[in-house]
Amino acid sequence: MSGKRILVTGGSGFIGSALVTRLVRDGHDVRVFDDNSRGRPRRLAEIENDIEFIAGDIRDPQAVDAAIEGVDEVHHLAYVNGTEFFYSAPELVLEVGVKGIVNVLDGCKHRGVGTLILASSSEVYQTPPQIPTDERAPLIVPDPLNPRYSYGGGKIISELMAINYGRKFFERVLIFRPHNVYGPDMGFEHVIPQFALRMKKEAAQQARGAPILFPIQGSGEETRSFCHVDDLVEGVIRMREKGKHLGIYHIGTTEEISIADLASKVALACGQTIDLATGDTLPGSTLRRCPDISKLVKLGYKPRVALAEGLPPTVRWYWENAELAPQS
Ligand SMILES: NC(=O)c1ccc[n+]([C@@H]2O[C@H](COP(=O)([O-])OP(=O)(O)OC[C@H]3O[C@@H](n4cnc5c(N)ncnc54)[C@H](O)[C@@H]3O)[C@@H](O)[C@H]2O)c1
Repeated sequence: MSGKRILVTGGSGFIGSALVTRLVRDGHDVRVFDDNSRGRPRRLAEIENDIEFIAGDIRDPQAVDAAIEGVDEVHHLAYVNGTEFFYSAPELVLEVGVKGIVNVLDGCKHRGVGTLILASSSEVYQTPPQIPTDERAPLIVPDPLNPRYSYGGGKIISELMAINYGRKFFERVLIFRPHNVYGPDMGFEHVIPQFALRMKKEAAQQARGAPILFPIQGSGEETRSFCHVDDLVEGVIRMREKGKHLGIYHIGTTEEISIADLASKVALACGQTIDLATGDTLPGSTLRRCPDISKLVKLGYKPRVALAEGLPPTVRWYWENAELAPQS
């Protein structure tokens, strides 16, 4: 299955750029479509001469249609990611999500592209009914008035459209639901970068060796399962090679960690000690998240990067690149 022409939307994003890099190394001809609203050209610097980059807005039907011309498959990742945007710009999250999938599906139909890979999310479950959670758990929007669900709502719509168009007009539609992906240059609106940068700021103001008072949202007992971006990409490649038409696959790890433990591990990576101060949880935030990944494991997927290995270089990247953080 080598040597395909592949369009990756959201290809200068955190996951998109890692996927694009891998696809190029595997011998594919890759075109990237992104408006760089959160995409960063630096992430593609090493392969910039090996790809075609199209700057455009996924909400623009003509631009998306033109970007799809001449490709064999589309990997649709463009989306507004970052928890703080779910609360501050829910209308934009939905507009990009809904118009994005409509334009991608129309473009594929018009240009005769039969293969589509869609990035969905663990947020389609909101509060999952069981842990670990498998792909059959119901997708829900518990409260349309809570802006947080703009993100999961847009992903549910995207999945429904991809599946129902996929059944009629595509040869192969594959959907992956990533669970808390991390790594260097992952963006700034996520828990690991926020912890790392707050720790750096506090460490600079603290007497040497004294513990840092470290407030967090929630009780600290909430859990997440952090998947290294290299494992995520490996999962997408596995799914692409072996996944079934209309198949939905979790990509993540079963290594579950509490937020309190995560804060301690980030502190350790920074050479600091902390005193945790717990607080309120954001409305709509879920208590536990850990995927059942056995469906993809059956296709040969195996996460390789433990958090103990992947976290220190990630934290280091944020300490060394703190000046790239958006100034508020
Ligand atoms: N990072 C995670 O842990 C995670 C978890 C679940 C799902 N996902 C999904 O995986 C995909 C990639 O996520 P990511 O972490 O790389 O996020 P990201 O924000 O780094 O990447 C998304 C990309 O989409 C682009 N984009 C946004 N609006 C656009 C528009 N109007 N037109 C064109 N491009 C636009 C951004 O510039 C960015 O490069 C997304 O669909 C996201 O929802 C990510």
